[in-house]
Amino acid sequence: MRVYLDNAATTPVDPKVVEAMVPVLANTYGNPSSIHSKGREAKALIETSRKAIAKYFNASPAEFFFTSGGTEADNMILRCAVHDLGVTRIITSAIEHHAVLHTAEELAKTNGVEFVLVNLDEDGAVDLNHLKALLEDETHKTLVSLMHGNNEIANLLPLEMVGEMCKEHNALFHSDTVQTMCHYRLDFKKLNVHFATCAAHKFHGPKGVGFMYVDSNFKFNPMITGGAQERNVRAGTENIHGIVGLAKAIEIAHADMEHHQEYVTDLKLYMVDRLKATIPGISFNGKSATKDSLYTVLSVCFPPNDMGEMFLYNLDIEGICASGGSACSSGSNVGSHVLRAIGAVMERPSIRFSFSRFSTKEEIDHVITVLKELYAVPA
Ligand SMILES: Cc1ncc(COP(=O)(O)O)c(C=O)c1O
Repeated sequence: MRVYLDNAATTPVDPKVVEAMVPVLANTYGNPSSIHSKGREAKALIETSRKAIAKYFNASPAEFFFTSGGTEADNMILRCAVHDLGVTRIITSAIEHHAVLHTAEELAKTNGVEFVLVNLDEDGAVDLNHLKALLEDETHKTLVSLMHGNNEIANLLPLEMVGEMCKEHNALFHSDTVQTMCHYRLDFKKLNVHFATCAAHKFHGPKGVGFMYVDSNFKFNPMITGGAQERNVRAGTENIHGIVGLAKAIEIAHADMEHHQEYVTDLKLYMVDRLKATIPGISFNGKSATKDSLYTVLSVCFPPNDMGEMFLYNLDIEGICASGGSACSSGSNVGSHVLRAIGAVMERPSIRFSFSRFSTKEEIDHVITVLKELYAVPA
């Protein structure tokens, strides 16, 4: 049995998304910048997709810029906020994705931007009082960059509240919404979020495509220079079949979102109960085992065992795909900066299981059976 519980790393592409993409890949080969009919046909697909996408976020199509995914979108927002909007201070947190953290660190080194980390509590939740105190210093033009849902420990940021705080103190607000977009409904007219990021592969779309949302009050210059694509903000011939796949994945996710939320939440809580009942001494990182967390992610802190690095391999041998910390850093055995930041017990092995609407109870039962054997707990 193969069990894929690494959906925070990436998700399997929905067959309906493949179905929408294949004809585009096969037939819509014109360059969208060409003025002939094949070019216009490709261009029309991009603009129809942009329009369709904007509707789901209660925003204007002109506020969406297609990118190669979350990393590029995060990079562009932080870099352009500094270069084009005059940001001189970035407030972020130690549990952000490296696409944000490494970019902010580099901007601090090369552009003299002040780099400030907001305090977190022991579960990784942002200390809103500390954030407020930081925002009260309005001598800097500030960008707050805080993720909506954490990819490792499943914390959720109160987006609306943080947006209001930023508004009150004239700060710009970017939220890395890569893990929550298409898992929760986001209304950009209501939320005071100026910039947000999306990667299609986190919600059953294709890899290598996503977008950045930029509130229409702000204008970026291109980070990647070249042609005038994406209204002169992101040069390069567009990934047309990817964009069509992204739009289809967004449509599918929104069609039945509340049902998926409920289904996946139940699955996760089922796994929490089974783990607690099966492995004495088990605990969970952050708030990931609660109903108030990002429902797709569960970070499990196992009792000590002598498997070391072999723990994940042993699961893999049994057909179980999961992740130790963030898969995006896999291969660089530095351990998880997120778990370290919240003071998790690093001597104990932590494994992230992450779910999708395609996950099943049977798969979770299989994982429990394998873990029981690995821990040799009598049945
Ligand atoms: C929170 C978060 N931000 C950004 C990214 C990067 O997105 P992409 O893989 O599309 O570059 C990821 C991917 O794991 C993520 O989880």
